[in-house]
Amino acid sequence: MTPETAQPNDNDQGGESAEDRVRIFDTTLRDGEQAPGFSMDRRAKLCMAQALEALGVDILEAGFPQASPDDFAAVEEIARTLRNTTVCALARCQNGDIDTSARALERARHARIHLFLSTSPLHREHKLGMSKAQVLDTAVASIERARKYCADVEFSAEDALRTEPEFLVEVFSAAIAAGATTLNAPDTVGYTTPAEMVELFTYLRRHVRDAHKAVFSTHCHDDLGMAVANSLAAVSAGARQVECTINGIGERAGNAALEEIVMALKVRAPHFGLHTRIDTRKLYPTSRLLTQVTGQAVPRNKAVVGENAFAHESGIHQHGMLKHRGTYEIMRPEDVGIAATTLVLGKHSGRHALRQRLEALGHSLDDAALDGVFKLFKALADRKRDIRDEDLEALALGLDPDATGPWRLDQLNTSSHLGSSASATVKLIHDDGRKVGEAAIGDGPVDAVLRAIERATGTDMVLTRFQVRAMSEGGDAQGYAQLTARHARHDWNGSSVSTDIIEATAHAALAIVNRIERQGIERHANAAPLQGVSV
Ligand code: KIV
Ligand code: ZN
Repeated sequence: MTPETAQPNDNDQGGESAEDRVRIFDTTLRDGEQAPGFSMDRRAKLCMAQALEALGVDILEAGFPQASPDDFAAVEEIARTLRNTTVCALARCQNGDIDTSARALERARHARIHLFLSTSPLHREHKLGMSKAQVLDTAVASIERARKYCADVEFSAEDALRTEPEFLVEVFSAAIAAGATTLNAPDTVGYTTPAEMVELFTYLRRHVRDAHKAVFSTHCHDDLGMAVANSLAAVSAGARQVECTINGIGERAGNAALEEIVMALKVRAPHFGLHTRIDTRKLYPTSRLLTQVTGQAVPRNKAVVGENAFAHESGIHQHGMLKHRGTYEIMRPEDVGIAATTLVLGKHSGRHALRQRLEALGHSLDDAALDGVFKLFKALADRKRDIRDEDLEALALGLDPDATGPWRLDQLNTSSHLGSSASATVKLIHDDGRKVGEAAIGDGPVDAVLRAIERATGTDMVLTRFQVRAMSEGGDAQGYAQLTARHARHDWNGSSVSTDIIEATAHAALAIVNRIERQGIERHANAAPLQGVSV
């Protein structure tokens, strides 16, 4: 990638825009995903990235490519796929990180490298062991290196809100001189108040040299429940980029919630006098998609997207609402994309109806993907009478472009008896023509299946995470299996959907084996055998 091939998106560079637009920088797939319980596999990330592009985010932070091969692959795939949104990769101020990020972004139409380095006294002394001068030199050298690859470079002064403001001015002035086009002042530990935010951004914009050449950005964590208020305070003091996540997911108590910031700017437009490019009618579908791919629901009373956000229970409120909606409603459910289901899908429904419903659920599929889901939908409609939204979501999520071999599941049998171990037999077919059958005993049917697959493929894996959940209600609900396994010192993810959870687990395990094999990684790289799992 060269600066010429990686042009910034229009208006994303070069000082404050006269048009008073706030850029929405989404970090659901980076800061959000790194929080416990929110990890996503590559397919889920791609699905979310497409939904976020359709939502209209300006910049999408797709991951931290140096962190793992899976992260690298996810960033690369998202960079290759998105057309309008700027795809951003996070990098520490280290040459290896910068070069890896540049490689991951090579195919991006609009790319950004996001560098971060701590600036606060606490972090300088205890985390980095660096003097102020060393921090300054490292930041400048890294920005200059990143600029050789990419014209759009963001610099984040980690723990900025606990940094001496004069030093922050020094660092940001040097960052602009070195070529940074966005300057981010994160409240890394969620410590700040809105008044302090206003004070800092006003000070920075007044004192940073050539401040007009960069976009000022805010990135707030919610440790004291002030992330959204702090982000809006920064915006009112001149920040024109907000870093945030869908449903506010993120490190510890989370990041500022994208949907809350966007709706605050929209509902209170006369107050802020600012706007974003977000299509607010896609907020709810995108929020819902995230809950589906992570398995983490939002609280009922969550602002904007919670189940109760538009429910009016008390008689007084209902009476007022019937007379005039505005009495108790500052925004309408349809403004954020909450629409009553009007379409019932069944075995006679066509592709068009399916596409419409999937879009309302946050899944923007291309024609090939829609074809795949449509086939699955027809097959499911033969087996299941009521096709619910959750079923459709499961089908869309279950479409695995990576499940295309070399190994395929031909036969699977399991048996388990109360109080004794379970057994499994698998028959697998390899693209090279091999047919391999293996049997294994395990602590439960899932464990037995995984062991049999391990034997048949010769791929050692240490299972580190296993999650199965029902995607809808009823005895014929579809199960979504998500596995993470350690192999060759890296974590590999696989997921699959089936009305039979053992089968879904087998497909998810095969997706992992296939990924490992396609990447040509040595297959006996782990000394330890697959760890037992009981279901
Ligand atoms: O919270 C933080 O400081 C971050 C940086 C990497 C921007 O996430
Ligand atoms: Zn953060």
